Amino acid sequence: MPGVTPAVRAADLSHTYADGRTALSGVTFSVEPGECVGLVGPNGAGKTTLFLRLCGVLPGEPGQASVHGLDPADASQRRKLPETVGVVFQNPDDQLFSPTVREDVAFGPLNLGATSAEACVRAAEALTAVGLADAAERVPFQLSGGEKRRAALAGVLAMRPAVLLLDEPSMFLDPRGRRELIGVVRNLPGTKLIATHDLELVLDTCSRVLVLDGGSLHADGPATALLADAALMDRHGLEVPYRLR
Ligand SMILES: Nc1ncnc2c1ncn2[C@@H]1O[C@H](COP(=O)(O)OP(=O)(O)OP(=O)(O)O)[C@@H](O)[C@H]1O
Ligand SMILES: [Mg+2]
Repeated sequence: MPGVTPAVRAADLSHTYADGRTALSGVTFSVEPGECVGLVGPNGAGKTTLFLRLCGVLPGEPGQASVHGLDPADASQRRKLPETVGVVFQNPDDQLFSPTVREDVAFGPLNLGATSAEACVRAAEALTAVGLADAAERVPFQLSGGEKRRAALAGVLAMRPAVLLLDEPSMFLDPRGRRELIGVVRNLPGTKLIATHDLELVLDTCSRVLVLDGGSLHADGPATALLADAALMDRHGLEVPYRLR
């Protein structure tokens, strides 16, 4: 779609950690508004690093990334990112810190300037969407692993981000929770990038897939075609989902 600002863009994006380890090199892709894209690849491929660069948690070179037209490497643009990009991190313990689940989920909208009544409504809606309405008054760190993931997702949904980055969203979820997550993701408006080893989930939610391995992008194309490519999957430590065998 020429003329449309991409929702997410990486342009020759590279990342080297302080210890000298290169986690990403020359990654280039562009995601249009409204697309749902799966980011797949073996452990250590660079998926989480890419997300941390896109949301500005990790510093980087200006001009290598943009989210909703904002460059996370530019301090003044990075400050505007929380209004547009929501990230559910791989480890939910990084994301839950309030005395109750309700306050945790309401924190994001409050921080973005919502009134407490509005934040409360948004928190209730988000908790219902992830099947956690009954846990609103519980202490977040006492939740089970799967409940923590749902709470972290609710916290991000309550902010209604235009771009959502989900890092291993189905990890720790039981089969029913996973089905519910797929339903939630499918119904969410906006642009979604999902890093996961759960290729069946990718098949159910994403029209397009990026294959990352060793910090480089190896494939970018339609989800069904790439995930059915046994040689491609094998080269990158992945497996063709059962449904496509
Ligand atoms: N803080 C850090 N310092 C140094 N190296 C790091 C750091 N964080 C990650 N790495 C390295 O960067 C590379 C990419 O890691 P990353 O966490 O992005 O991979 P990933 O694709 O998310 O893997 P997984 O599927 O296991 O979640 C790995 O080699 C990892 O060891
Ligand atoms: Mg990761």
